[in-house]
Amino acid sequence: MPVRILMVCLGNICRSPLAEGILASKLPKDKFFVDSAGTGNYHIGKKPDNRSIGIAKRKGIDISCQKARQFTARDYKEYDYIYVMDGSNYSNVIDLAPDENSKKKVSLILNELFPNENVDVPDPYFGLENGFATVYEMLDEVCDVIAEKLIKEHTTS
Ligand code: 4NP
Repeated sequence: MPVRILMVCLGNICRSPLAEGILASKLPKDKFFVDSAGTGNYHIGKKPDNRSIGIAKRKGIDISCQKARQFTARDYKEYDYIYVMDGSNYSNVIDLAPDENSKKKVSLILNELFPNENVDVPDPYFGLENGFATVYEMLDEVCDVIAEKLIKEHTTS
């Protein structure tokens, strides 16, 4: 059974689709499954924002086939790790936890890089084009740390 990882943001069209594509590119497909979802329902069924598709494509990652969906309490059953992009996502996801133990699956993603600092991945949706490049770099850096940790924990050498 592959280890299942879920990336979560608000709209599931800018940050979490990038996080999904980047982390998946760093993990062996037979051992890990990576998905993403949004806490909001505004963009259900839509492909990622063209600016996220564009920056990923320039880095050699194709996220154009992803489809936005909304995070639900059921995701706590189906995923082993849930990484959220900002503090607001964290509250919204924690509010849906079925029990105390499930809450341990949720981490603010940049805490993997800067432990306990609670740094947000900024929402680039309403900002300038270069916000997407900044978000890409942040996610690429933290996904290196996450991939290394997951591979160490879940695969034998
Ligand atoms: P995301 O960005 O959470 O990184 O996908 C957003 C996308 C859409 C909206 C907000 C954030 N929106 O308000 O529609």
